[in-house]
Amino acid sequence: MAEKREFPHHMIKEIFEQPQGLHDTIAPRIALPEGQVQLNEVPIGREELRALNRINIVASGTSRHAGMVGQYMIQELGGIPADVDYASEFEYRNPMIGKGELTIVITQSGETADTGAAQREAKARGSRTVAISNVAGTTIAREADGVIYTLAGPEISIASTKAFTAQMAALFLFALHISQARETLAANLRENYIRELLELPAKLKILLECASQVERIATEFHKVDDFLFLGRAIHYPIAMDGALKLKEVSYVHAEGYPTGETKHGPNALIDENLPVVIIATRDAGNQGSVLRYEKSLGNIRGFKKQSSRVIALASEADQEVPRLADHTIVIPQASELLSPILEIVPLQLFAYYMAVKRGLDVDRPRNLVKSVTLE
Ligand code: AGP
Repeated sequence: MAEKREFPHHMIKEIFEQPQGLHDTIAPRIALPEGQVQLNEVPIGREELRALNRINIVASGTSRHAGMVGQYMIQELGGIPADVDYASEFEYRNPMIGKGELTIVITQSGETADTGAAQREAKARGSRTVAISNVAGTTIAREADGVIYTLAGPEISIASTKAFTAQMAALFLFALHISQARETLAANLRENYIRELLELPAKLKILLECASQVERIATEFHKVDDFLFLGRAIHYPIAMDGALKLKEVSYVHAEGYPTGETKHGPNALIDENLPVVIIATRDAGNQGSVLRYEKSLGNIRGFKKQSSRVIALASEADQEVPRLADHTIVIPQASELLSPILEIVPLQLFAYYMAVKRGLDVDRPRNLVKSVTLE
């Protein structure tokens, strides 16, 4: 049984273990000085990877949010269309999959019933499966053709934190692995990404210094019962996971929404009683990212006109977001595809401190179990 040591709860201990979990997941899979990813555990050869038509990702809860981030990574780096499904819904939509396709099954515990059922459905339809699992030797790991283990260490708290960041890192490694086989990324770009991946644990460690700022924000907001979490593109699943964390440990109603969708309905709700948490980071070297950031600035201006209180995540050196938002948490500079691995950390901390301030049992929220083994 993992010990809490100097931390009052497993959740906060696991949040602080993320630099180590990332390092352990990434470092052994990088071959230097060649600047290549080595995923020997994936028994799918170069020719098969080159011939792939599509990748399906199935998972539940937070693991599905990692899959949504992975969809962007795989499509952009590997040049393969990727679909993401709720494991619990997969069979109902008659997934038209088969040979020439690969199904990635993401799970912390390796025993989630819905995810195992979706894996069996994919296999029955002729798809190969690769599991991303944090626990060794589990049912889902055993039934997969190959397993990429996230080496985040045992996760005890019901809220998944360190497994999530390790899952996103594993998906990024897998996307680079595919790009090597399919030659979809220039060698210098791959080397830049690998350098940035290796620097990620140190950046996350620095980011954890925002814990006291986030605790102060939670002190101000802990009596609020509704929140909206917003993000665009690859940041949207992070908004979803920030909302899920808040729901499960603080019993606070929170919705994760794509920022651009607010004008299609939710805007009617936004006023002084509904704070907005918005991810408004930007990768200055990425045109699409800068464009999305500028649109998000317009959204923040609108929310302020509607008297909402805004908590924003912004990139280092950004001066615009801090001028507009009530609170700004600064995220270390990172490229668009890797920034989500950092952005989730202050949102995990926010859910944690909100739960503590509300006097709740952070590690064992009511009505939930760590691994949902019954459908
Ligand atoms: C996350 O904080 C949740 N406790 C939950 O959504 C979890 O991610 C989900 O049940 C999937 O579990 P798994 O990763 O073990 O399959």
